[in-house]
Amino acid sequence: MKAAPETLSPEQAAFLVRQRVARLATADAAGAPHAVPVCFAYSGGKIIIALDDKPKDVPPARLKRVRNILENPSVAIVADRYAEDWSLLAFVMVRGRAGLLEPGGGEHTAAIRLLRGKYHQYEEMRIEDNPVICIRPERVVSWGALDVARSREPTVLDAVRGRRSVRRYLPKEVPEDLVEAVLEAGRWAPSPHGTQPWRFAVVTKEDTRERLAAAMGEEWRANLEMDGQAPEIVERRLQGSRRRLLDAPVLVLLCLYLDDLDVYPDAGRQESETTMAVQSLGAAAQNMLLAAYDLGLDAGWMCAPLFCPEEVVEALALDQALVPHALLTLGYAEGDPPKRRSRRPLDDLVVYRD
Ligand SMILES: Cc1cc2nc3c(=O)[nH]c(=O)nc-3n(C[C@H](O)[C@H](O)[C@H](O)COP(=O)(O)O)c2cc1C
Repeated sequence: MKAAPETLSPEQAAFLVRQRVARLATADAAGAPHAVPVCFAYSGGKIIIALDDKPKDVPPARLKRVRNILENPSVAIVADRYAEDWSLLAFVMVRGRAGLLEPGGGEHTAAIRLLRGKYHQYEEMRIEDNPVICIRPERVVSWGALDVARSREPTVLDAVRGRRSVRRYLPKEVPEDLVEAVLEAGRWAPSPHGTQPWRFAVVTKEDTRERLAAAMGEEWRANLEMDGQAPEIVERRLQGSRRRLLDAPVLVLLCLYLDDLDVYPDAGRQESETTMAVQSLGAAAQNMLLAAYDLGLDAGWMCAPLFCPEEVVEALALDQALVPHALLTLGYAEGDPPKRRSRRPLDDLVVYRD
């Protein structure tokens, strides 16, 4: 058993962020206990729980858990993994003080966005009309194999829907075998004529990342200034991008490699050949993002190298035949990402033709 006051360790936070359900324990003023399963999100060191309208007998504000919190804000929440292989068992329990965030406030809006980002089901529910439970941790206890990714065989669809772009990472190293497994997933992407017209560069060392950030930053600064952006906005955006490159424990740069493509006498077909290579690079990137998620990692996509391929080749001393296209950041999410990630309904995207 490990106890830490107030803050979750990177291992505890990484475990908590990946769980889809937890059990919330509250007690009334007399100490009578009450526990319920809850969907939750974790961000900025706080745990957020929606009061939704799944079928229940009473309106959200009259729920026993809410009444208990108002009488007695001390709560505990536990997220656990069970598996028949007991070497995989693990839990994180957080004790803390709970309060309600009322609709209308900025914190409430951010919490709703966070929850909808994690659970697509909330997009269909009017959770924004109800208060949100917010728990500030005071004591954290954990046990077991926190670092193991899975407790059951996940499906590809779980990964497709669960994956999300992560832009802030915990200071927690990614084991080399996991990085290799992600690269392996890229290797198996479909490609035109099986040519695999891409190469991957892995960057972990701090000074190399510094060099890359500086090279891309300069080019971006020039572009933003050309667009007439205000100096403080230019500075903020550059700082954000630099932070992402330095915070993520691993960067994977996906480059096009066109030397093995078929050669055509006409420009039109040659262009299509290159387009196919780019499409295939996208498939390799998605393979890697899904594999990362499946392995218990998180990832983000940065398009910056596309805008300054020569600078990136130089900064990383790459073969001149490589054309940098996409940069994937890899690591463990610091919290559930705040950005809303809704999707258009299928009806907007698909036409059926008999
Ligand atoms: C080609 C491509 C380029 C992207 N470039 C960036 C980028 O430069 N910075 C960024 O934060 N996200 C970037 N993204 C991630 C998208 O913003 C993200 O996938 C989208 O908002 C949906 O969110 P989700 O991935 O969490 O579902 C990129 C995604 C793609 C496919």
